[in-house]
Amino acid sequence: MAIDMTDARVLVTGAGHGIGRGIALGLAAAGADVVVHYGSSADAAAQTVADIEALGRKAVAVRADVTVTEDVDRLVAESVAFLGGLDVVVCNAGHLIGRVPVAEMSDEHFASVVDVNLGATFRTCRAAIPHLLESDRPRIVAMSSLAAHNGGGPGSVVYAASKAGVRGFVKGLAKELGPQGVTVNAVAPGYIADTAFHGTFSTAEAQQKMVAGTPVGRPGTVDDVAAAVLYLASREASYITGTTLDVDGGTWPR
Ligand SMILES: NC(=O)c1ccc[n+]([C@@H]2O[C@H](COP(=O)([O-])OP(=O)(O)OC[C@H]3O[C@@H](n4cnc5c(N)ncnc54)[C@H](O)[C@@H]3O)[C@@H](O)[C@H]2O)c1
Repeated sequence: MAIDMTDARVLVTGAGHGIGRGIALGLAAAGADVVVHYGSSADAAAQTVADIEALGRKAVAVRADVTVTEDVDRLVAESVAFLGGLDVVVCNAGHLIGRVPVAEMSDEHFASVVDVNLGATFRTCRAAIPHLLESDRPRIVAMSSLAAHNGGGPGSVVYAASKAGVRGFVKGLAKELGPQGVTVNAVAPGYIADTAFHGTFSTAEAQQKMVAGTPVGRPGTVDDVAAAVLYLASREASYITGTTLDVDGGTWPR
Protein backbone atom coordinates (compact mmCIF):
# COMPACT_ATOMS: atom_id res chain seq x y z
CA MET A 1 0.00 0.00 0.00
CA ALA A 2 1.70 3.22 -1.14
CA ILE A 3 0.94 6.28 0.95
CA ASP A 4 -1.03 8.81 -1.06
CA MET A 5 -0.88 12.44 0.04
CA THR A 6 -2.33 13.81 -3.20
CA ASP A 7 -3.48 17.42 -2.70
CA ALA A 8 -2.85 17.32 1.05
CA ARG A 9 -2.13 20.83 2.31
CA VAL A 10 0.96 20.79 4.50
CA LEU A 11 3.02 23.21 6.58
CA VAL A 12 6.51 22.09 7.64
CA THR A 13 8.48 24.34 9.99
CA GLY A 14 12.25 24.55 9.63
CA ALA A 15 12.07 23.07 6.13
CA GLY A 16 14.96 24.90 4.46
CA HIS A 17 17.48 22.22 5.29
CA GLY A 18 18.15 19.10 7.33
CA ILE A 19 15.33 16.91 8.55
CA GLY A 20 12.61 19.47 7.75
CA ARG A 21 13.69 19.67 4.12
CA GLY A 22 13.61 15.87 3.90
CA ILE A 23 10.12 15.79 5.40
CA ALA A 24 8.86 18.48 3.01
CA LEU A 25 10.28 16.64 -0.02
CA GLY A 26 8.96 13.28 1.18
CA LEU A 27 5.44 14.63 1.61
CA ALA A 28 5.59 16.42 -1.76
CA ALA A 29 6.82 13.25 -3.48
CA ALA A 30 3.69 11.54 -2.13
CA GLY A 31 1.52 14.31 -3.63
CA ALA A 32 1.28 17.09 -1.04
CA ASP A 33 1.53 20.84 -1.57
CA VAL A 34 3.85 22.36 1.00
CA VAL A 35 4.54 25.63 2.78
CA VAL A 36 8.27 25.65 3.47
CA HIS A 37 8.81 27.63 6.65
CA TYR A 38 12.28 28.93 7.41
CA GLY A 39 13.93 31.05 10.09
CA SER A 40 16.92 32.65 8.42
CA SER A 41 18.23 30.76 5.37
CA ALA A 42 16.15 32.17 2.52
CA ASP A 43 18.38 30.53 -0.12
CA ALA A 44 17.99 27.06 1.40
CA ALA A 45 14.21 27.49 1.63
CA ALA A 46 14.09 28.66 -2.00
CA GLN A 47 15.97 25.51 -3.01
CA THR A 48 13.47 23.30 -1.14
CA VAL A 49 10.62 25.14 -2.90
CA ALA A 50 12.28 24.64 -6.31
CA ASP A 51 12.80 20.94 -5.59
CA ILE A 52 9.14 20.51 -4.58
CA GLU A 53 7.98 22.33 -7.71
CA ALA A 54 10.18 20.00 -9.76
CA LEU A 55 8.07 17.16 -8.32
CA GLY A 56 5.00 18.86 -9.80
CA ARG A 57 3.61 20.18 -6.51
CA LYS A 58 2.90 23.70 -5.23
CA ALA A 59 5.24 25.24 -2.67
CA VAL A 60 6.12 28.59 -1.18
CA ALA A 61 8.72 29.73 1.35
CA VAL A 62 7.54 31.77 4.35
CA ARG A 63 9.91 33.31 6.92
CA ALA A 64 8.92 33.46 10.59
CA ASP A 65 10.62 33.46 13.97
CA VAL A 66 8.86 30.59 15.72
CA THR A 67 9.48 32.19 19.12
CA VAL A 68 7.30 35.17 18.21
CA THR A 69 3.53 34.68 18.41
CA GLU A 70 2.71 37.30 15.74
CA ASP A 71 5.16 35.66 13.34
CA VAL A 72 3.70 32.20 13.88
CA ASP A 73 0.13 33.47 13.51
CA ARG A 74 1.10 35.16 10.22
CA LEU A 75 2.90 32.00 9.07
CA VAL A 76 -0.24 29.93 9.59
CA ALA A 77 -2.50 32.60 8.00
CA GLU A 78 -0.23 32.79 4.93
CA SER A 79 -0.12 28.99 4.73
CA VAL A 80 -3.91 28.77 4.75
CA ALA A 81 -4.17 31.51 2.12
CA PHE A 82 -1.61 29.81 -0.15
CA LEU A 83 -2.88 26.24 0.25
CA GLY A 84 -6.60 26.98 0.59
CA GLY A 85 -6.69 25.31 4.03
CA LEU A 86 -4.49 23.14 6.19
CA ASP A 87 -4.46 19.35 6.61
CA VAL A 88 -1.07 18.56 8.11
CA VAL A 89 1.28 20.54 10.33
CA VAL A 90 4.80 19.29 11.01
CA CYS A 91 6.42 21.16 13.91
CA ASN A 92 10.04 20.40 13.08
CA ALA A 93 11.90 23.62 13.88
CA GLY A 94 14.17 23.19 16.86
CA HIS A 95 17.61 23.89 18.18
CA LEU A 96 20.48 23.02 20.48
CA ILE A 97 22.60 26.12 20.99
CA GLY A 98 25.71 24.60 22.50
CA ARG A 99 26.56 21.98 25.05
CA VAL A 100 26.48 23.74 28.43
CA PRO A 101 26.43 22.09 31.89
CA VAL A 102 23.40 23.10 33.97
CA ALA A 103 25.58 24.74 36.66
CA GLU A 104 26.92 27.13 34.01
CA MET A 105 23.74 27.73 32.03
CA SER A 106 22.20 31.20 31.81
CA ASP A 107 18.47 31.84 32.13
CA GLU A 108 18.55 33.10 28.53
CA HIS A 109 20.05 29.83 27.25
CA PHE A 110 17.47 27.76 29.12
CA ALA A 111 14.58 29.93 27.90
CA SER A 112 15.75 29.89 24.29
CA VAL A 113 16.04 26.10 24.08
CA VAL A 114 12.68 25.53 25.72
CA ASP A 115 11.01 28.25 23.68
CA VAL A 116 12.18 27.01 20.29
CA ASN A 117 11.72 23.29 20.94
CA LEU A 118 8.55 23.29 23.03
CA GLY A 119 7.13 26.84 22.90
CA ALA A 120 7.16 26.94 19.10
CA THR A 121 5.37 23.59 18.93
CA PHE A 122 2.66 25.01 21.20
CA ARG A 123 2.42 28.29 19.24
CA THR A 124 2.26 26.57 15.86
CA CYS A 125 -0.39 24.10 17.00
CA ARG A 126 -2.47 26.86 18.65
CA ALA A 127 -2.59 28.86 15.43
CA ALA A 128 -3.21 25.81 13.23
CA ILE A 129 -5.92 24.00 15.23
CA PRO A 130 -8.92 26.07 14.01
CA HIS A 131 -7.90 25.32 10.41
CA LEU A 132 -7.15 21.64 11.04
CA LEU A 133 -10.65 21.27 12.47
CA GLU A 134 -11.99 22.10 9.00
CA SER A 135 -9.90 19.38 7.34
CA ASP A 136 -11.09 15.83 6.61
CA ARG A 137 -7.58 14.45 7.24
CA PRO A 138 -6.11 16.54 10.07
CA ARG A 139 -2.69 15.59 11.40
CA ILE A 140 -0.09 17.14 13.68
CA VAL A 141 3.42 15.67 13.80
CA ALA A 142 5.96 17.20 16.19
CA MET A 143 9.68 16.63 16.63
CA SER A 144 10.94 15.00 19.81
CA SER A 145 14.33 13.28 20.13
CA LEU A 146 16.11 10.24 21.49
CA ALA A 147 17.42 12.75 24.04
CA ALA A 148 13.91 12.88 25.53
CA HIS A 149 14.34 9.23 26.58
CA ASN A 150 18.03 9.03 27.48
CA GLY A 151 18.92 12.56 28.59
CA GLY A 152 21.03 13.31 25.51
CA GLY A 153 24.78 13.77 25.23
CA PRO A 154 26.97 15.90 27.51
CA GLY A 155 25.63 19.41 28.08
CA SER A 156 22.23 18.79 26.52
CA VAL A 157 20.12 18.44 29.69
CA VAL A 158 17.72 21.26 28.81
CA TYR A 159 17.50 20.13 25.18
CA ALA A 160 16.52 16.68 26.47
CA ALA A 161 13.96 18.18 28.83
CA SER A 162 12.43 20.32 26.08
CA LYS A 163 12.12 17.29 23.79
CA ALA A 164 10.55 15.27 26.64
CA GLY A 165 8.13 18.18 26.90
CA VAL A 166 7.19 17.66 23.25
CA ARG A 167 6.44 14.02 24.04
CA GLY A 168 4.07 15.03 26.85
CA PHE A 169 2.57 17.78 24.72
CA VAL A 170 1.51 15.43 21.92
CA LYS A 171 0.08 12.95 24.42
CA GLY A 172 -2.05 15.64 26.03
CA LEU A 173 -3.09 17.36 22.81
CA ALA A 174 -4.04 13.99 21.32
CA LYS A 175 -6.61 13.61 24.12
CA GLU A 176 -7.87 17.14 23.62
CA LEU A 177 -8.30 16.81 19.82
CA GLY A 178 -9.07 13.11 19.50
CA PRO A 179 -12.84 13.57 19.65
CA GLN A 180 -12.57 15.95 16.69
CA GLY A 181 -10.53 13.54 14.59
CA VAL A 182 -7.18 15.34 14.75
CA THR A 183 -4.28 12.97 15.41
CA VAL A 184 -1.25 14.35 17.25
CA ASN A 185 2.02 12.42 17.30
CA ALA A 186 5.76 12.98 17.46
CA VAL A 187 8.83 11.30 16.06
CA ALA A 188 11.97 10.89 18.15
CA PRO A 189 15.02 10.65 15.90
CA GLY A 190 18.26 9.19 17.15
CA TYR A 191 21.57 10.11 15.54
CA ILE A 192 20.69 11.54 12.11
CA ALA A 193 24.05 12.12 10.48
CA ASP A 194 23.20 13.91 7.22
CA THR A 195 22.30 17.19 8.96
CA ALA A 196 24.32 20.18 10.18
CA PHE A 197 23.18 19.48 13.75
CA HIS A 198 25.85 16.98 14.82
CA GLY A 199 28.55 18.51 12.62
CA THR A 200 28.19 21.59 14.81
CA PHE A 201 27.63 20.06 18.24
CA SER A 202 29.18 16.58 18.37
CA THR A 203 32.84 15.60 18.10
CA ALA A 204 33.89 12.91 15.60
CA GLU A 205 34.52 10.60 18.57
CA ALA A 206 31.01 11.22 19.94
CA GLN A 207 29.55 10.50 16.50
CA GLN A 208 31.43 7.18 16.33
CA LYS A 209 30.11 6.29 19.78
CA MET A 210 26.54 7.05 18.68
CA VAL A 211 26.86 4.68 15.73
CA ALA A 212 28.46 2.03 17.97
CA GLY A 213 25.45 2.35 20.31
CA THR A 214 22.94 1.90 17.50
CA PRO A 215 21.80 -1.73 17.16
CA VAL A 216 21.30 -1.51 13.37
CA GLY A 217 24.93 -0.38 13.10
CA ARG A 218 24.54 2.79 11.06
CA PRO A 219 23.55 6.41 11.60
CA GLY A 220 20.04 7.46 10.68
CA THR A 221 19.26 9.58 7.63
CA VAL A 222 16.89 12.43 6.93
CA ASP A 223 14.92 10.04 4.73
CA ASP A 224 14.47 7.61 7.66
CA VAL A 225 12.76 10.39 9.62
CA ALA A 226 10.78 11.63 6.60
CA ALA A 227 9.32 8.15 6.04
CA ALA A 228 8.05 8.00 9.63
CA VAL A 229 6.49 11.46 9.38
CA LEU A 230 4.89 10.56 6.05
CA TYR A 231 3.18 7.59 7.67
CA LEU A 232 1.96 9.56 10.70
CA ALA A 233 0.67 12.27 8.32
CA SER A 234 -1.25 9.79 6.17
CA ARG A 235 -4.93 8.90 6.24
CA GLU A 236 -3.84 5.34 7.05
CA ALA A 237 -2.54 6.43 10.49
CA SER A 238 -5.96 7.57 11.73
CA TYR A 239 -5.92 5.17 14.73
CA ILE A 240 -2.50 6.26 15.95
CA THR A 241 -2.46 9.28 18.22
CA GLY A 242 -0.58 10.54 21.27
CA THR A 243 2.42 8.40 20.44
CA THR A 244 6.09 9.23 19.96
CA LEU A 245 7.63 7.03 17.30
CA ASP A 246 11.33 6.30 17.87
CA VAL A 247 13.36 6.55 14.65
CA ASP A 248 16.69 5.58 16.15
CA GLY A 249 17.79 2.21 14.78
CA GLY A 250 16.81 0.51 18.04
CA THR A 251 18.96 2.71 20.30
CA TRP A 252 16.13 3.12 22.82
CA PRO A 253 15.08 1.27 24.89
CA ARG A 254 18.05 -1.03 25.30
N1 LIG B 1 19.84 15.79 13.55
C1 LIG B 1 19.55 14.95 14.55
O1 LIG B 1 20.29 13.98 14.79
C2 LIG B 1 18.30 15.15 15.37
C3 LIG B 1 17.99 14.16 16.32
C4 LIG B 1 16.83 14.30 17.08
C5 LIG B 1 15.99 15.38 16.89
N2 LIG B 1 16.33 16.33 15.97
C6 LIG B 1 15.38 17.44 15.80
O2 LIG B 1 14.99 17.51 14.44
C7 LIG B 1 14.64 18.85 14.10
C8 LIG B 1 15.39 19.27 12.86
O3 LIG B 1 16.77 19.23 13.16
P1 LIG B 1 17.94 19.21 12.06
O4 LIG B 1 18.91 18.20 12.50
O5 LIG B 1 17.37 19.12 10.69
O6 LIG B 1 18.62 20.62 12.34
P2 LIG B 1 18.57 21.98 11.52
O7 LIG B 1 19.32 22.96 12.35
O8 LIG B 1 19.01 21.72 10.12
O9 LIG B 1 17.02 22.34 11.51
C9 LIG B 1 16.40 23.11 12.51
C10 LIG B 1 15.47 24.09 11.83
O10 LIG B 1 14.79 24.86 12.84
C11 LIG B 1 14.80 26.20 12.42
N3 LIG B 1 14.74 27.12 13.57
C12 LIG B 1 15.47 27.08 14.71
N4 LIG B 1 15.16 28.14 15.49
C13 LIG B 1 14.21 28.86 14.82
C14 LIG B 1 13.49 30.07 15.09
N5 LIG B 1 13.64 30.76 16.24
N6 LIG B 1 12.59 30.51 14.17
C15 LIG B 1 12.41 29.83 13.02
N7 LIG B 1 13.06 28.68 12.71
C16 LIG B 1 13.95 28.21 13.60
C17 LIG B 1 16.11 26.39 11.67
O11 LIG B 1 16.04 27.50 10.79
C18 LIG B 1 16.23 25.06 10.94
O12 LIG B 1 15.59 25.12 9.68
C19 LIG B 1 14.94 19.69 15.34
O13 LIG B 1 13.75 19.86 16.09
C20 LIG B 1 15.94 18.82 16.11
O14 LIG B 1 15.91 19.12 17.49
C21 LIG B 1 17.46 16.24 15.20
